Amino acid sequence: MRKFLEAIWAFLKLAAIAGAIALGSCTTARTILKQAPTDLPKNWQMPARVDLPEIRARALLETEIYGEMDLSPTVEIVSFEQRPAEALTSPATVAQWRLRVSYGADARDMDLILVLPTDVPNAPVILSQNFCPNNSVIPLAGVRPPDDVDSTCSGGGFFGMLMVKIFGRYIVQPPLQDILDRGYGLAAMYPSQFVPDRGEAGLAALDALFPNHANRPGALAVWSDLFTVAARNIDTEFGERPMIAYGHSRFGKTALLAGAWSDDIDAVIAHQSGTLGASALDDKEGEPLDALVKGYPHWAGEGLNRYQDRPKALPVRPADLLALTGHKPVLLGNARRDVWGDPWGAYKEAKAAWGVAFGAATPADFRPGDRKAYWLRPGTHGVVKEDWPAFLDFLDAHFP
Ligand code: GCU
Repeated sequence: MRKFLEAIWAFLKLAAIAGAIALGSCTTARTILKQAPTDLPKNWQMPARVDLPEIRARALLETEIYGEMDLSPTVEIVSFEQRPAEALTSPATVAQWRLRVSYGADARDMDLILVLPTDVPNAPVILSQNFCPNNSVIPLAGVRPPDDVDSTCSGGGFFGMLMVKIFGRYIVQPPLQDILDRGYGLAAMYPSQFVPDRGEAGLAALDALFPNHANRPGALAVWSDLFTVAARNIDTEFGERPMIAYGHSRFGKTALLAGAWSDDIDAVIAHQSGTLGASALDDKEGEPLDALVKGYPHWAGEGLNRYQDRPKALPVRPADLLALTGHKPVLLGNARRDVWGDPWGAYKEAKAAWGVAFGAATPADFRPGDRKAYWLRPGTHGVVKEDWPAFLDFLDAHFP
């Protein structure tokens, strides 16, 4: 018996060593095991500021990465309804649109939901793009799910619960009541309703929206334009007010694009935006460009395919995108163990984009009052309990 136990023990040790070697030789596992720094390395040198002229930066971001960004859709209001919100502890209005959006060819529907505090004049609106349909994100009575969408994370369902367990308490639902209590409205969109977030279906929708286009926009470009569509509809119905583009991860990428391109967006919260967001493309940290292009072939324009194996050859970089946000308040959210999202790369790009306007002395130096701010918390990829208080502190500093 003793021999048998010893043999099992030896086997377990060997298996652990083999497992560690296997993990260490796999890029994805190495990335998961790492932590981003909270301090500057000893030999830190401030990166040089990017200096591409704005017109050139925009042109290159379009031809080499995202596809066309100057999109002017026609938008038809298919339906609009509005009523007082129930089940909230403060007075608010719920408004819900179904918009039919076309870029000249196929037209597709996008649902927009807004909860607006009625006791705050001109309340700024946080426009959120989400992984789940609107009725999961803002689960008030009467909020409708999109037609023809098979995914749901609703009401205690297994998928929703799993998402919350893995990616944090706010991954599906931002804290609506806290947001209203702090004086903001919350709007939600489900970009996958418009361009499905799946390789083949996404590409088919893009081809139908932009047939024979010389530089067809990728899904990120189109989704980012939906922020503008939402902002304009809300302004028209409820009066002009500050509009904040918010998104996590892939929608952190779209929030940054909207902040860089749209005059209708006044501020950005881009949480863990990663590759094709704020993070560096020319270092070995984070999600490699070829992994993104293969995994999500519908996200970028076709120009990016030329660079998937040689990101260093790109003539434009994330800092150029960040620089296009001008004077708008921008918060880059990060988590130390989200090395796939490359927090350190985002810090370096922010320095290169904004120079002294980006005051964070180290990655741990959260300064909500700065127009360009950086938030780094412990933990992994997701939207957890510390994140929204930090986002709201940042917004309060800029929209008092
Ligand atoms: C994947 C993808 C990332 C993206 C993330 C997300 O991990 O590789 O680029 O940011 O999904 O959207 O959660």
